[in-house]
Amino acid sequence: MTGLRQAEHLAREARHLAPGASEEAVHGRRVFTEGRGPVLTDLDGNQYLDFAAGTLTQSLGHGHPEVVEALTAQARRLWNVHDSATPDRAGLLELLARLLPEQLDTYAFFSTGAEVVEAALRVVQATAPPGRNRVGALRHGFHGKTMGARMLVHWDVGHQSFSGNSVLGYSPYCYRCPLELEYPSCDVRCATLVRRHIAEKPNVSALVFEPVLGAAGVIVPPPGYWERITEACRDNGVLLVADEVLTGGGRTGAFLASELLGVEPDLALLSKGTASGFPFAVLAGRGELLRSPEAATPGAYASTYASNPLGIAAARATLEVVERDRLIERVRVLGELMGDRLGALRSRFPRHLGQVRGLGLLWGLEFVTDPTSRTPAPEVARDVYTTALDLGLRTSLGGHILRLAPPFTLDEAVLEEGLRLLDKAVERVVA
Ligand SMILES: Cc1ncc(COP(=O)(O)O)c(C=O)c1O
Repeated sequence: MTGLRQAEHLAREARHLAPGASEEAVHGRRVFTEGRGPVLTDLDGNQYLDFAAGTLTQSLGHGHPEVVEALTAQARRLWNVHDSATPDRAGLLELLARLLPEQLDTYAFFSTGAEVVEAALRVVQATAPPGRNRVGALRHGFHGKTMGARMLVHWDVGHQSFSGNSVLGYSPYCYRCPLELEYPSCDVRCATLVRRHIAEKPNVSALVFEPVLGAAGVIVPPPGYWERITEACRDNGVLLVADEVLTGGGRTGAFLASELLGVEPDLALLSKGTASGFPFAVLAGRGELLRSPEAATPGAYASTYASNPLGIAAARATLEVVERDRLIERVRVLGELMGDRLGALRSRFPRHLGQVRGLGLLWGLEFVTDPTSRTPAPEVARDVYTTALDLGLRTSLGGHILRLAPPFTLDEAVLEEGLRLLDKAVERVVA
């Protein structure tokens, strides 16, 4: 329940705040005052385990001391000099070169996920051969809310989609297969159709994709999906643009989810997990693309907050901890534990929990009215979300899906405690 002080505060805000907040904020109705590691505190003094890690941003938990120190030291020195070099930038570039696959050796820095998607589209547009004026995207993909990003988004995200110049392919949503087939007897027909599309449409310049589709509910592709599609892209000169805004930075158990799935992107986009919640994004790419005279025209990668010294400092400190403390290995260990526990949860509530799926520390729970019709049950997901909050667990809500994406720095006992609270919340709602 929202405490009294919070309720008063929210009523005060509502007089002037535009509506249109996330489902999480609307249904959660909390006023958070502080975050420390995995724990959030609200205005009434209640505490929560944050298994949404901010908005999948707090890979190191809230207020990691080394990131706070780097950011405050930078805040004392210098805030903005356009995109001029500052001392941390060379260090961050070298760090990214160590963490990212070898072919992604050149970088540009931005502030948000949608902004870096736009930057990638500009590179694609600048380098595409004449006549290749369309961009491929996947059904159920999410890439942000700016116009170029919306061109790639084909599901209702609270506003009309703007399909523009994009070509749509099937995503690997086995639980709701659009072709009504079953894996593996389907022989990954969805990928075969995407491949055919790519081969038959000589005007496609790039495929922009989430390797694991995050916002749509952590849709993890079956083996064979990406192999077929990437091969077709290579054979047909279609660039692979991995939108790893959500999955990048280690969340799935590799620095890029693409690496786990055997995809070698030409461009990769990072944001959420890279700078501990400070607005920051990285466009990583093959040198020949990002340095090409067509893409790298004067000012092409500059904007008011591009290469912002505060973001650079936060990103460098965050990724240094990820590297030094071998946190991606931790993600794999914790991810296995989480997968086991969530599998058990699903067995306990097979009627309402249609599917549980994920990789590393990124999991989606799909709630349905019954397992036969698989009709989405957003009201159940919402009740589990608010009940879990009342019990002291924050998750991430989107329609009939709950996502779990805790910080990488949890210990096993805290992970178990969070999952125990989730179990209790599901039981209260559906039993
Ligand atoms: C895969 C992906 N791309 C792009 C975005 C847009 O990022 P932002 O909200 O920072 O604009 C998101 C946001 O959730 C995302 O998940």
